[in-house]
Amino acid sequence: MSNPTSPPLPGQPHVARHGDLLQVEQVSLEALAREHGTPLFVYSKQWMLDALAAYQRGFEGRDALVCYAMKANSSLGILRVFAKAGCGFDIVSGGELARVLAVGAEPSKIIFSGVGKTRGEMRQALAAGIGCFNVESEEELDVLNEVAVAEGQRAKVSIRINPNVDPKTHPYISTGLKGNKFGIAHDRALHAYRHAASLPGLQVVGIDCHIGSQITEASPYLDALERVLDLVEAIEAAGIALHHIDFGGGLGIDYNGDTPPAADALWKQLLARIDARGFGGRKLIIEPGRSMVGNAGVCVTEVLYTKPGEDKNFCIVDAAMNDLPRPAMYQAFHRIVPVSARGQGEAQTYDVVGPVCESGDWIGRDRLLNVRSGDLLAVLSAGAYCMSMASNYNTRNRAAEVLVSGDRATLIRRRETFEDQLRNELAGSD
Ligand code: LLP
Repeated sequence: MSNPTSPPLPGQPHVARHGDLLQVEQVSLEALAREHGTPLFVYSKQWMLDALAAYQRGFEGRDALVCYAMKANSSLGILRVFAKAGCGFDIVSGGELARVLAVGAEPSKIIFSGVGKTRGEMRQALAAGIGCFNVESEEELDVLNEVAVAEGQRAKVSIRINPNVDPKTHPYISTGLKGNKFGIAHDRALHAYRHAASLPGLQVVGIDCHIGSQITEASPYLDALERVLDLVEAIEAAGIALHHIDFGGGLGIDYNGDTPPAADALWKQLLARIDARGFGGRKLIIEPGRSMVGNAGVCVTEVLYTKPGEDKNFCIVDAAMNDLPRPAMYQAFHRIVPVSARGQGEAQTYDVVGPVCESGDWIGRDRLLNVRSGDLLAVLSAGAYCMSMASNYNTRNRAAEVLVSGDRATLIRRRETFEDQLRNELAGSD
């Protein structure tokens, strides 16, 4: 007799157990692991489209553009889903620009963020005809001006301002505080805008801010909003028109019972303030990353060994900090669940760790699991900042990726090979 379908996993409505086996949409993770090996990233296309739809609902009837912050997951198969859905993109390097252009993104919907754009990247972006440079320093304004003049172009610019608000998140992913390297200080902003407006190679089109990531409350957004709108008033009073206002990204997801506001509810609240202050007709841009892909993805990994320790038991899996860097980097929590519910024996508390030679190589601590060698585990909420931050540390090949839509699974990244890794290396000679 087949078991009924269990409720979806928290935060991941498209990941559920059907009978014994975990599925993404209608595709079994065990079957995918058998076909493609592990570690394997599997994404639900529907989750991504639902995430985008929540933002679109929030902006219904408005002049608004969702620019997916592709640093969250820049795999071509993911970008293509968003490009086809009409999204714009927030990029931070020439490499990201090459990626989005490869999936046919519309250049005018691309905005270029980041504190350290090179002249080469500026030329590349001007040649592509991107929509806007989000400039982060006064020196960058001068360099962009020079590059644009030399290319016979006018670069469209927005200045990223640092509103000095606390996003109440992990310090490594707070970006809008005074001590952060990002943006131009609120107090300097008007001066920077006057300077930008005086440069022949620049055309001022907007203002932007981004205060941090994995934000789970509305209040930091509301604080930043007031600060940005105060500046819009001051800048426009100085005779510099701002065509758009960009509020960045940052909305969190449910990793471990987190309860961020839904995108549409958050924007309802923010738009009420924007309307109240008389900016309701202004073009709005946002740059969400994590909230567009984070809970679309899981990483399937195989248990290699279990090892009882004096203080702890270890469950050694074939995914590691090079595949899933967030726990090592930010002490981040990802739920870990068995792919098959057929566990035999007794559940024990384990630290789930990878094969990399570092004590920091852990994926989950003190997890109650009923596992033995050969079992598959799914690391949840692995759609954002996992594959895009993966490395080859310990000369490990990067994982494969599969995109699921309904009952269809498409390989969107082949597993890397050692030949791939060695391709650009030269051992030299004596
Ligand atoms: N816009 C700018 C200018 C950004 O710097 C970022 C993220 C975003 C948008 C998108 O933020 P999101 O909506 O994804 O929160 N690796 C870290 C997160 C780093 C975020 C960097 N900037 C993590 O795994 O938590």
